[in-house]
Amino acid sequence: MTRTLRSVGVDLGDRSYDILIGPGARHGLAALLPVGARRAVIVTQAGIDVKVEPGIDHEVVEIGRGERSKSMETVGELGRAMARFGLSRSDVVIAVGGGLVTDVAGFAAASWHRGTPVVHVATTLLAQVDAAIGGKTGVNLPEGKNLMGAFWQPHAVICDTETLSTLPPEEWRSGFGEMAKYAFIGVDGLPGMPLEEQVAACAALKARVVSADEREGGLRMILNYGHTLAHALEAAGFAAEPGDVLDQVGAGPAAGPAAGHPLPRPQPVPLPLRHGEAVAVGLVFAARLARALGRIDDGRVREHDEVVSAYELPARLPRGAEPAQLIEFMLRDKKAHGELTFVLDGPRGVEPVAGVPSGLVTEVLAELKGP
Ligand SMILES: NC(=O)c1ccc[n+]([C@@H]2O[C@H](COP(=O)([O-])OP(=O)(O)OC[C@H]3O[C@@H](n4cnc5c(N)ncnc54)[C@H](O)[C@@H]3O)[C@@H](O)[C@H]2O)c1
Repeated sequence: MTRTLRSVGVDLGDRSYDILIGPGARHGLAALLPVGARRAVIVTQAGIDVKVEPGIDHEVVEIGRGERSKSMETVGELGRAMARFGLSRSDVVIAVGGGLVTDVAGFAAASWHRGTPVVHVATTLLAQVDAAIGGKTGVNLPEGKNLMGAFWQPHAVICDTETLSTLPPEEWRSGFGEMAKYAFIGVDGLPGMPLEEQVAACAALKARVVSADEREGGLRMILNYGHTLAHALEAAGFAAEPGDVLDQVGAGPAAGPAAGHPLPRPQPVPLPLRHGEAVAVGLVFAARLARALGRIDDGRVREHDEVVSAYELPARLPRGAEPAQLIEFMLRDKKAHGELTFVLDGPRGVEPVAGVPSGLVTEVLAELKGP
């Protein structure tokens, strides 16, 4: 069987770059490195069994897993590793991992010598269709997610679909949730396509949106479709990135009684939704809200339900999620500016809609309460 690689361009003048997509695409890495780069620091995580061959002198640095490792401390450690290795500004950082690795390595590259090229080898579905493309990099602070960061466009992106074969089921679900949104912002027939075509179609759409609106001044907001509710579910603890899940599961014994006292039986903790699963609930919700505002009809709502169900993603609020609490978190969102704003479908396509009445949001959320 011949291997078909696709190449998609992100068009940003002298910061333009290619995204190479398909099975085995990682073998094209050496040809995508910046001309003149003589050394590479490869940033990855334990457990990601993806070997890359840059064809130049290189060192591999592993960072921790989970959102707690997406930190300024990790960026500092990477900087120190780059210093020890003697990485210069004309060399290259290579991120091999999911969105966490591409966000952190991208931010470290943006800061190293005030800007060193970075190439992303995305190894999760979510990173291939979203996180690795578009130049948003950053880390979390104890005060909030992604509060420190920079726009730093990669020199190239590789989406090797072979690397996805080791992804655990929850990472597939998370990627599919992020993918499902593309079915409503410009990719037709998405769930029926072979996987590589799905990745390529989503990457191509993200590339087009980023090319038109690099800094989220307008069009790029459509990429947040389904995300307002997803972020509220995350803030309220019903959805989480993997590290947050580990934190919660790991909290049991540490919080237990002192030695000598009988240990309580561990209670089964329902695992929070992964980010993409929360986006899926957000898509189903956004469709119903758009219908309640007269922007779309029943058929279009059904299309949302069908896409979410084709990816076997959740379409109901998790047990215990209350509309009033979710609305409170939506109002606190850094992009809310004191009123309820959603990205909603409508006659002109998906667009931001401000000033949505909270009573209506409550009614629509109540419709989505689980059994
Ligand atoms: N910059 C952006 O535009 C953007 C967009 C969306 C999300 N993000 C960020 O991306 C992060 C989430 O990314 P993610 O969902 O890829 O999670 P992740 O990077 O945390 O990866 C999830 C888990 O999968 C493991 N993994 C990665 N590749 C693997 C492989 N091929 N086989 C087996 N395991 C593998 C990782 O080690 C990790 O434990 C969040 O921090 C989020 O804020 C950034």
